[in-house]
Amino acid sequence: MLEIAQIQSNPKLGNCEYNLQRIESFLGQVSKADLIVLPELANTGYKFDNRDHAYSIASEPTCSKYVEFLRDYARDNKVNIVSGYLEKESNELFNSAIFVKPDGSVGKYRKIHLFMDEKSIFAPGNLGLPIFEIGEYKFGILICFDYLFPEIWRIMALKGVDFIVHPSNLITQNAHKVVPAQAIMNGYYVITSNRIGTEGDITFCGNSFISDPRGNIISEMDYINEGVKFTTINPLFSRDKMITTGNHIIDDRLSDNYVELMDF
Ligand code: ACM
Repeated sequence: MLEIAQIQSNPKLGNCEYNLQRIESFLGQVSKADLIVLPELANTGYKFDNRDHAYSIASEPTCSKYVEFLRDYARDNKVNIVSGYLEKESNELFNSAIFVKPDGSVGKYRKIHLFMDEKSIFAPGNLGLPIFEIGEYKFGILICFDYLFPEIWRIMALKGVDFIVHPSNLITQNAHKVVPAQAIMNGYYVITSNRIGTEGDITFCGNSFISDPRGNIISEMDYINEGVKFTTINPLFSRDKMITTGNHIIDDRLSDNYVELMDF
């Protein structure tokens, strides 16, 4: 079993000090959890004016403190954390998620499918689809708009993940339809932590949720309030891929029929 703490926040664009303090206060509400999941770009906000704006924020010392802050917290509280953050490497920017373990070690995923103006700010992720572990459980990370691309859900299933962690800044309810469907088709949990609030002409839709491997929404937050929500999941449930008494959703695949996918 894993106790999940989802944080739904409302970052202030570019105000990394405020965002860090706010996250610290949410973390103060987590007395016991195995995994804490924060939204996409939790340390900076989302709608940068342009690439220079994002770049200047990424180079602020207050923002580079964010990962160190999470590592200290994870070590002190013996907890795993996944958070979206603005990542700068040399001259490139990535819309990334960091996975911090209780021993302070880190893993990383970089968002592959960039949404709208993100294409002029970030480079597409270049780390592939890494798999991470918490004890005996395996998981993958998708960031927000990645959810619209079915291929990556399937790859994660074939790699044997028990759940997907999905830091998001969603602006429509489409994910609330697609994610439970992918959970059914691939037989795993999905933990979507979204944000609320408005930046410029974009309003984020909250409703952070968890889908179980049968597509049931077992936890959902509202669309107005920040906060922390706790849900217990049993990742071993994801290892039962029998969708009927006679159908295994992975073994029943007939790959010969899918090879033409590679032609497109
Ligand atoms: C999104 O990918 N932030 C919509």
